[in-house]
Amino acid sequence: MKKKIIRIGVLGCGTVGTHFIKGIIKNKKTLRDKTGIEFTVVKVCDIDRKKGKSFPAIFTTKDSEVLESKDIDIVVELVGGTEYAYESVKKTLSRGTSVVTANKALISEKGREIFKLAEENNAHIGFEASVAGAIPIIKAIRESFAGNKLTKILGILNGTTNYILTRMSLNASSFSQALSQAQKFGYAERNPTLDIKGFDTVHKLSILSALAFNKIVYWKDIPVEGIEKIDPMDITFTNEFGYRIKLLAIAQKKGMGLDIRVHPTLLHKNHPLSTVEGVYNAVYLEGDMAGKTLFYGEGAGGNAAASSVISDVVDIGKKLLCDTHPYKIPFYADKKIAVIPMKEISTKYYFRFTALDKPGVLARISNILGKNGISIASVIQKQESPERAVPILMLTHTAKEEFVQKAINQIDRLDVIKKPTVIIRVEE
Ligand code: HSE
Repeated sequence: MKKKIIRIGVLGCGTVGTHFIKGIIKNKKTLRDKTGIEFTVVKVCDIDRKKGKSFPAIFTTKDSEVLESKDIDIVVELVGGTEYAYESVKKTLSRGTSVVTANKALISEKGREIFKLAEENNAHIGFEASVAGAIPIIKAIRESFAGNKLTKILGILNGTTNYILTRMSLNASSFSQALSQAQKFGYAERNPTLDIKGFDTVHKLSILSALAFNKIVYWKDIPVEGIEKIDPMDITFTNEFGYRIKLLAIAQKKGMGLDIRVHPTLLHKNHPLSTVEGVYNAVYLEGDMAGKTLFYGEGAGGNAAASSVISDVVDIGKKLLCDTHPYKIPFYADKKIAVIPMKEISTKYYFRFTALDKPGVLARISNILGKNGISIASVIQKQESPERAVPILMLTHTAKEEFVQKAINQIDRLDVIKKPTVIIRVEE
């Protein structure tokens, strides 16, 4: 029988690129045993010559040796960003060559264009590594749950911020100490702002919700707040209330619209997602047939992402050799869904007021909350000081965001309030 071979070209030899090539070499026999196919990396390109040290025989700095080669079946794009990556993916697909990418910014920004191009040219696109590292969540939503109407996604989708929040909570590290550790382990994006401010999570959530709900939500339409304002004090206090703070991706069907958002969220310590620590990610799904399911695994780091890249390469390799048709992906369809405005959402809230410790202060705060229809569930004052402002911590019953913002605006203008109030939403 003729030997089945899939030849791979790699663009970008950073953390994920290096782990991918090493993984293909290390597990060559396992891959062959499981698939009957020989997977081989024939070329790897990076603008930085130093990156080629481990693979001198196949390394190049000229991308034309990957993009214009007739001997490459799949191009693996691991450069990141949306400019060069978009141009190179377009070039590859236009020639009818399939692409595997880990690039969530590219898929969420340019998904419509590239999936259309792939279909026109009968090429495949694999993007499992773009969301939640090693967790096979794209495959699960697209294939395993194909027979479900999905109604809800909750996700911890960013390893860097989860690692930072965990370290701040366990080691009492400062935000910046925890961030540099995350960068040292290669979890953070080249620009850590994408992680910290929640944009990396927003990109990933837009991809999952497109697949889950078969409708487009452009990532810029998703309300987002990052973790940069979380103070170690909030982590300690919310712990005492029995909650953990997580950067949570939320998407749930509400009537004809979609409640979709990313922000720091209080999760009760009994909630399964509250126990997801460090660089781990988790995705919770609700479907009309499957019910509630939870996926858990390493969300960032070279090997975790490379594992998903390899799975896409295998999937596409098998299709290329059997000549089947590409999956239908909804990114190019004109199927926008209305995003429910943030002011319309209802949830429970944690507030940290910084207020003077004198008679009548709590009454003034609760008066404003009451007038805005916000009901208090519990209150703690941690310190006592007649001269200085002290933290007052509060949990509310379910309230509407619009009224919460209005009330907190009024409260923050009181002369007894000395700092802007911290607001964190609760998810149950
Ligand atoms: N910066 C990302 C994270 C890498 O921290 O999750 C994986 O997408």
